[in-house]
This record gives sequence, structure tokens and C-alpha cells, in this order.
Amino acid sequence: MDLHVHLDANLPLSPQIYRQLRAGILDGRLRSGQRLPPTRELARRLEVARNTVAVAYELLAADGLLSGRVGAGSYVHAEHLHLRSRRTALAGAVRPRAGWRAQVLDTAAAAARYDFRIGVPDVTLFPTRTWSRVLARAASAVSSRDDTYGDPSGLDTLRAAIARHIGVSRAVRADASDVLITQGAQQAFDLAGRVLVEPGTCVAVEEPGYPAVRALFESLGARVIGVRVDAEGLDVRALPSAASIVYVTPSHQFPLGMPLSLERRLTLLDWATRHDAVILEDDYDSEFRFGGRPLDPLQSLDRTGRVIYVGSFSKVLLPGLRLGFLVAPASLQPALRAAKQLTDWHSTTMLQAALATFIDDGHLAAHLRKVGRDYADRHARLTQALEARCGAWLRLVPSAAGLHLAAEVDAAVNLPVLVQRGLDRGLLVRPLSAFSRAAGSQGGLVLGYGAIRGTGIEEGVRELAAMRRASSRG
Ligand SMILES: Cc1ncc(COP(=O)(O)O)c(C=O)c1O
Repeated sequence: MDLHVHLDANLPLSPQIYRQLRAGILDGRLRSGQRLPPTRELARRLEVARNTVAVAYELLAADGLLSGRVGAGSYVHAEHLHLRSRRTALAGAVRPRAGWRAQVLDTAAAAARYDFRIGVPDVTLFPTRTWSRVLARAASAVSSRDDTYGDPSGLDTLRAAIARHIGVSRAVRADASDVLITQGAQQAFDLAGRVLVEPGTCVAVEEPGYPAVRALFESLGARVIGVRVDAEGLDVRALPSAASIVYVTPSHQFPLGMPLSLERRLTLLDWATRHDAVILEDDYDSEFRFGGRPLDPLQSLDRTGRVIYVGSFSKVLLPGLRLGFLVAPASLQPALRAAKQLTDWHSTTMLQAALATFIDDGHLAAHLRKVGRDYADRHARLTQALEARCGAWLRLVPSAAGLHLAAEVDAAVNLPVLVQRGLDRGLLVRPLSAFSRAAGSQGGLVLGYGAIRGTGIEEGVRELAAMRRASSRG
């Protein structure tokens, strides 16, 4: 116990100690059963006479807030008070900058019976035993070395493992030295923003698109413009000529799901060259592919060095690991490395070491094969169920990758009512409008299949169909 006690030498000491300890007990900082320091020890720390502390303890005991026998230690006694923590921060007289005042992003959704939330893998598929083993090994290897401050770009072994992995699975052209380890993809976007965005810099994002990236660039002072998406992905002709950064999700457009066609990829690269722009390629969930040959990433089609390729282990392993990476052209690497150092010095060494072993020993490849089959099955079942039960009012956007599906919905369907009724009955689906700032955009739904398993998929779709029938009646 190391409760901070502040004493004013000009006032009686015992009452001050008594009041501060009592406040600690009543607001929950000192918990029931916790042992207070012996009077001698606290007296020494506070530089007061032992009897001064003893008197404070007696006052607490008289209030019924301490139990214990003389010589056997004093313990906080507070069960009988049924305390609710009263520890709250001050309302505060200071305010964040204007752009941060209304900044509220989605946090974890409440549990639902039919949970079609998007953006999460199935946490029950995480290879806990294997991961625990490699993590334990990494912990002892790292702690027996001198694990002080390391290279901001990350652990060499992990950078090499990732370079090999994305070289083989995605044809990304990178050496270990091109890879920078980040806290998830989000930090990669943040680092890119820090080194590229000035106040008013124009950033083009997809519309509909990934809200967390849009909000991030706005928070950095950029002017963010949504660019429409059609069946081939981002409409390159609609890009504002002022854009100096273009954020895209070419493998699996977020949230609609179609890939960016090869022709569009080449057009986008050409556009970026002519406008001297940087392309931020977010390859967040392309590891899960269910058919068709994947197109080459923009990074490997790029001939002029203007693509930052971003990957994440949030879908492949767990979002909570906060592990991702970026591969940048050489001209940006020193700045990005410095930005990483200024942000958090580097990512956690033990986690990096564990992930390096996990990849090198073949566990990642095995895990991807296993979960890939499972997600392919869910993708097929969700597709079939939606077409069979909801095909009359909903059309799926074709997609062959990822962990979610999007569907356009007939204008006659009252989507806000449908989504709310769903929530009331434990069915969680997101409206497409949650990913769009454009007024009057196509109504639709987005359904994830990372958090729903077994027959939940079919049952959830049956519920969705029932909800539609109910909402059409009123
Ligand atoms: C479009 C998109 N990009 C990236 C990510 C991954 O983010 P992170 O690696 O920060 O968890 C997500 C996660 O939901 C996403 O939807």
C-alpha cells in the first residue's frame, strides 16, 4: 500500500492522516481486506511520530473502517458500506481543440444473439496454445537479452518474416529493411499522416469507406474528400485533382467488398504519378479469399515509388494484439521511422519476437489454412441464406474475400426501422449509411461473419427476413 498522504505541518497531523485514509477507503482506492502499513512504517515515511499515525488509525477503527488486533496489522473493513466508487475526474476547465470535441468513434458493440458485427475475426479460432508457447519462449529470450530501447522500425526477425510472408502470399516487393512494424494498421495510417499531412492537405478516401481513417486524417488537419465507388471500386475519374494522398482498399473495398479492377489499379497509379500523390493501400483482410485469383497489389504494380502498403494482424490473429506493418518507398522510410520513434519509440519487443517465431515456424500459414476454410464456409452459407430468404428486397455486392458482406437494399425498405427492430431483438446488422457521409446514398446493409458461427448464420438471416416482413407492415 502506497497511498499518497499530504501533510500540512501547520495543522494538526493525526486528523489530516485520518481524513485522507478515510477518503481513500470511501472512494474505493483502499479496498476492503487491504492491509494498512504498520504505524511505525507509515510514521517513518511521513516523518511524523509513530503515535501520530496510531491516533489516526484509532479514529478509523472507531468509525468501523479498520479491523485487526493490536500487533496483527490493521485491515480496511468496508464490505458493510456497499460502496460505489466515487472516484471521478474533475469536470475540468480545459477543452480539446475544436476538431476533437465531437470525436466519438464506435467502440465494441454490445453482445447480440445474432451478431453480424463487422471488423472482428472469430476469437474462438485463435490458436491460444501455440501462441502461449511462442509468447513464453519470446518472453524468456527477450528478457535474458538487453531489452531496452530498440529500433523504431521493429525487430529484424519480424520484419524479415513479414517481408517473406507478404512476398509469397501477396507478391509485395519488399526486403526486411522496407518493413516498419506498427500498432495495427491504424498506427500505420497515423504515421503516414504525420509525415505527409499539412493543414489543409487534401486527402481522398473512398465513399462509402472506413470511418476510422477519415476521422484520423481530419484530426490531423487534412481536408478529406469522399470519392464514389462503383462496381470496379474507387472511381479514379472522380478524384479531386488537389488530392495528394489517396486512401484505398483495393483487395476488398471497405465496406462494399468488390476488388479494385486491374484497369482501375493501373489508372490510379498513373493518376498518382501525374498528380504527385501518395497512395495508401490498405490490405486489411485479403488473407481470406474464397475464389478467383487475387489481383496484384498496387504496391507491386507501382513503378515510381508512391505506394505505402499497409497490413494488419487484427483479422488474421486478434485485433487486441495491435500488430500491423507498413511497407513504404525508400524516400519516406527515414521520416516514418522517426515518426514511429516520436509516437511510441517502437512496438512491444516480446510480442514482435513471438509473432516472428509464429510466422517462421509455419504456424501462421497453418492457421490461415484452417480459418480460411471456416470463413469460406460462412461466406457461402451467409450468401445462400440471404439470397434464399431476402433475395426479393436485397442484392448482394459480389465479393470473394474478407470477413463481411454488403448488400444493397430496395428503396422501399425502411432501413433505420429495420436495423433498430433488429437491435431490439438481438440482431446486429449495420446500415451502409454508417460508412458514408454522402446524402442520399444507396441504402444497404453490411453483415460480418467473424463473430457469428454455427447455425447462427441461418437463424440470424431468418430473423432478418422476419423483421423485414414486420417492418413492411408498419
Ligand atoms: C478497412 C480497415 N482497415 C484496417 C483495419 C485494421 O485496423 P487495425 O489493424 O488498426 O486493427 C480495419 C479493421 O476493422 C478495417 O476495417
